[in-house]
Amino acid sequence: MTEAILTAEGVSKDFPLPRSLSDRLAGRPARAVHALSGVTLEVRRGETLGIVGESGCGKSTLARCLVRLHEVDGGRVTYGGTDVATLTGAERRAFNRRVQMIFQDPYGSLNPRMTVRQILAEALSVHRMVPTARIPDRIAELLALVRLPSDAADRHPHAFSGGQRQRIGIARALSVEPEVLVADELVSALDVSVQAQVVNLLLELQERLRLTVVFVAHDLRLVRHISHRVAVMYLGKVVEVAPTATLFDDPRHPYTQALLHAAPSLDPGSRSRRAAARGELPSPIAPPPGCPFNTRCPHAFDRCPAEVPFLTSRGPDHVAACHLAAPRFESAR
Ligand SMILES: Nc1ncnc2c1ncn2[C@@H]1O[C@H](COP(=O)(O)OP(=O)(O)O)[C@@H](O)[C@H]1O
Ligand code: SF4
Ligand SMILES: [Mg+2]
Repeated sequence: MTEAILTAEGVSKDFPLPRSLSDRLAGRPARAVHALSGVTLEVRRGETLGIVGESGCGKSTLARCLVRLHEVDGGRVTYGGTDVATLTGAERRAFNRRVQMIFQDPYGSLNPRMTVRQILAEALSVHRMVPTARIPDRIAELLALVRLPSDAADRHPHAFSGGQRQRIGIARALSVEPEVLVADELVSALDVSVQAQVVNLLLELQERLRLTVVFVAHDLRLVRHISHRVAVMYLGKVVEVAPTATLFDDPRHPYTQALLHAAPSLDPGSRSRRAAARGELPSPIAPPPGCPFNTRCPHAFDRCPAEVPFLTSRGPDHVAACHLAAPRFESAR
């Protein structure tokens, strides 16, 4: 499970901010949200890679760059070793088919005027997945795969619950037989009990169909349950990547440590949810110099605001971007 199928190599993505009249009159330079700043990450064939981090840290932007819904401003995204920005024509269509994104809000992405049969038939015909005569059988197979009853085919999306709509979204993504699924906050909007069902379905499909899955979520418990490896993002950067058990048992980046410390307790009596770290998340318009975490880090020292730390090895298959050699998880757990 070591071959990289999809990679981000030094990927940067900025969103320019509209310039106000007063900015123009004062001659102030155009500003931008630095959503991603030099993200390097590999997705390996057959794995589920979890991506976690606080809201606004760039997870969705990275997911969209990986499926080429955004063009990158710097660096590159590769698929099977090829820079996806260079793909055109048939190659681009093949990439669009093999790397599928499933969204948080399937209601928004499922046409309310179409039945499930029409939605799936459309996906199957656009990519000419099966001969026309085979489409009804394939639709029945897809519904069975995501455990929806066969009579679901003739209903419209609004007739389904949130969890069922996610299953329709998954069936649509699977209809084109992808290699990679990028799931952005797939179950975040669902009730906890339904979340588990959809995540378990995804786990099962991943193993059965040998899919590669990028699972983006702010909920650490879901990510832990489903992922083989986890990448932690902070302010547009990947700050730590490790096999799941290692990341949760021996986190090395102070931000990962803070994130785990702040995760809601599994004890239902304790409803508190602490902030991931002291102080405010800095603005991605003007990220702090040096280590992006230096304004909130309990271990920060003089080198931190002066020098950007790069990802370096912390153990087998484990990297973190911190100037400290091996900060240990000191907070009370
Ligand atoms: N299309 C966009 N236009 C302008 N700013 C954006 C756009 N998409 C994301 N951003 C900004 O980029 C930053 C990262 O956002 P996002 O990738 O959605 O983070 P996350 O998914 O981790 O919450 C945020 O500051 C967000 O406001
Ligand atoms: S580089 Fe410095 S500020 Fe950044 S996480 Fe490490 S100790 Fe904290
Ligand atoms: Mg997001």
